[in-house]
Amino acid sequence: MNVKKTTIQGPKGKLGVLLPGLGAVATTFITGVEAVRRGIAKPIGSLTQMGTIRLGKRTDNRSPMIRDFVQLAELKDLEFAGWDIFEDDCYDAACKAGVLDRALLDSVKGFLEHIRPMPAVFDSRYVKKLSGTHKKDGKNWWELAEQLMDDIARFKQEKHLDRMVMIWCGSTEVYVEKQPIHETIDAFEAGLKENDPAITPSMVYAYAAVKSRVPYANGAPNLSADIPALIGLARELCVPICGKDFKTGQTLMKTIIAPGLKARLIGLSGWFSTNILGNRDGEVLDDPESFKTKEVSKLSVLETILQPNLYPDLYGDFYHKVRINYYPPRGDNKEGWDNLDIFGWLGYPMQIKVDFLCRDSILAAPIVLDLALFLDFAARANLSGIQEWLSFYFKSPMCAPELYPEHDLFIQLMKLKNNLRHLMGEELITHLGQEYYE
Ligand SMILES: NC(=O)c1ccc[n+]([C@@H]2O[C@H](COP(=O)([O-])OP(=O)(O)OC[C@H]3O[C@@H](n4cnc5c(N)ncnc54)[C@H](O)[C@@H]3O)[C@@H](O)[C@H]2O)c1
Repeated sequence: MNVKKTTIQGPKGKLGVLLPGLGAVATTFITGVEAVRRGIAKPIGSLTQMGTIRLGKRTDNRSPMIRDFVQLAELKDLEFAGWDIFEDDCYDAACKAGVLDRALLDSVKGFLEHIRPMPAVFDSRYVKKLSGTHKKDGKNWWELAEQLMDDIARFKQEKHLDRMVMIWCGSTEVYVEKQPIHETIDAFEAGLKENDPAITPSMVYAYAAVKSRVPYANGAPNLSADIPALIGLARELCVPICGKDFKTGQTLMKTIIAPGLKARLIGLSGWFSTNILGNRDGEVLDDPESFKTKEVSKLSVLETILQPNLYPDLYGDFYHKVRINYYPPRGDNKEGWDNLDIFGWLGYPMQIKVDFLCRDSILAAPIVLDLALFLDFAARANLSGIQEWLSFYFKSPMCAPELYPEHDLFIQLMKLKNNLRHLMGEELITHLGQEYYE
């Protein structure tokens, strides 16, 4: 097969990473990048930094690092900026988040102190548990979007950036259904001017990013860019976007275990998941309206992996429950329990118990890094609109309306790597045996 390589511009110059929300995830990400740059820690969990990709036949012995194969931006070329409703600089915010050791934070204190949040676009109707004062004033959403676009342009100029990306690391907003105002860009822009309540702050950031031709990823389950108006605008302006909700912790485990059960045709009668966590995210999710947004995102996973319509005897009637409990003593160190009631040969019941003592932001930080580098790569490859090949990173992957999202972690990884092979003009790997392959 003759495969053509896409023309992709090299990653010359600096890449700016814009982060709405400088909380636990964002500060763990920024601190981590700086620690890796200084050689005091390793970027564990990051596919772009530690992953390899097999090329050609197994006998070819070609498995370069992904970052060399596709020429990603280097860590030394990253610059950071963000917005938050609290004025804390990144050092203070990271200390309060309590994820990383004080000794590590102190070793990069000078660097972190210089990253101070810009005033946010915020409205407590959409995040009921938070009230901060460091926010912008504006007549309507439209004016606030313009202020964000000014911030973006200023960051680019001040840091002499070549390119930028934006990753939403802000809080989970209350549940909002898609409405007619989200359908077209004309309706959406009219809504920005009329301060329509169906527009949320994260949509204003997404709009400002896409309008500024800055690729956008959404790490929370809010709709944000996942509305036809912004998806259409991203395609029109040739801007890559992706989301929603970083796949970490319990859902990561779910998308690892469920494909295994299905592969062996083991039935499922119930899956009960509960968590305790005590960080600010946990506090925000204590509000039923923000939890609803998260719950919808977490529940969608099993249905699409297990395909009950195709396997009614195995998955036609399973009960799925997800709970999140705010429990301050745990801070960012979440504990997630899963009980799976499964059944095997002749319907005999069995159980699996999972107790995952995880660190949320430690699992999320490498995802932010990978998304920043891959979105920048996508922009340089002239890809636009929803980047389904980045579904690997999300609990609720965005996809075209006529498709269903792919949740199986292993299919997602294959899709990601085959997408890279395709763009670079390499043969796709089909895992067919030698006898079929040649
Ligand atoms: N493993 C994970 O940690 C994980 C996994 C999946 C999704 N997420 C999501 O990522 C987001 C960040 O998680 P976190 O643990 O860092 O939470 P966090 O509460 O520590 O940080 C979020 C920050 O966003 C700020 N914020 C809220 N609204 C804002 C706005 N409109 N503009 C600017 N800043 C705003 C808050 O003040 C806060 O500092 C949350 O939505 C969370 O649900 C996290």
